[in-house]
Amino acid sequence: TLLNKGKFMISTSLDNRILSVSFDRSDKKNAITNDMYLAAEQAVLEAGVNAEVRVVLFKGEGGNFTSGNDLVDFLKNPPTGGEPPVLKFLLALARCPKPVVAAVTGLAVGIGTTMLAHCDYVVAAEDARFKLPFVDLGVWPEGGSSLLFPNLMGHSQAAELLMLADVFGSEKANKVGLLNAVVASEEVIPAAVKVATKLANKAPNALAKTKALIKKTYLADLELRMTEEIHGFAELLNGPEAKEALGAFMEKRAPDFSKF
Ligand code: COA
Repeated sequence: TLLNKGKFMISTSLDNRILSVSFDRSDKKNAITNDMYLAAEQAVLEAGVNAEVRVVLFKGEGGNFTSGNDLVDFLKNPPTGGEPPVLKFLLALARCPKPVVAAVTGLAVGIGTTMLAHCDYVVAAEDARFKLPFVDLGVWPEGGSSLLFPNLMGHSQAAELLMLADVFGSEKANKVGLLNAVVASEEVIPAAVKVATKLANKAPNALAKTKALIKKTYLADLELRMTEEIHGFAELLNGPEAKEALGAFMEKRAPDFSKF
């Protein structure tokens, strides 16, 4: 029964006990809609319980990882309610008992960057570009990044990435600890598959227990923070600064925050 193909622009395939989950919407730079979050959540949940899957491998089709949450969907279907799709996906990822590898090429914006802090091994292309645009969209961080980033990289680097919100490259992403390896763009998938294959051949129970132990100190706090973040995010998204930012994106102009 393993996972529908191409449904909701998340495509999956199972090879050698590695479940590849692809953001597959290249005309929109793999921007993620609610349907896609739910499909990705299902893939991760099923990977967790299916003995045929030993490793999950995230990637993006068409040269980019993902341009982050679909901004049109933000307006049509904001992440409100107890567990909006984006939170369901992130919780499944944070709780995934099996190793998760990510292969990043091109753009990794918003959740495309924050989800990397939940993965166990990240390979990125030397020309990959990362961005945490939350403040520039009039909102605040998600994906547990407000908790994970300062722990991972210290306050000054986390503040720079989350407050200044500039585009940054693989060198910086590697320096702050988001990546495990940086390789030429065409080597990203082979390098990620190599690591995933190694992990797939290891003792699965020992691996799962090791992962759980690594996360034991912070998983409960992380789940609380992700929930707090997404609720505050939805509130801010409804506010005037986000309206200006999203309006500017739709009208293909720069936002003007001078009036606030
Ligand atoms: N949501 C919805 N549509 C998006 C998108 C997103 N996050 N990112 C890209 N797209 C769409 C563009 O609107 C465009 O659609 P069109 O062809 O119908 O006009 C198409 O994808 C191609 O993107 P384009 O902007 O032309 O490519 P680019 O290379 O010039 O710029 C980005 C790429 C990612 C820098 C730019 O699209 C962008 O800033 N996107 C928004 C990123 C973002 O803020 N994500 C939210 C994270 S919380």
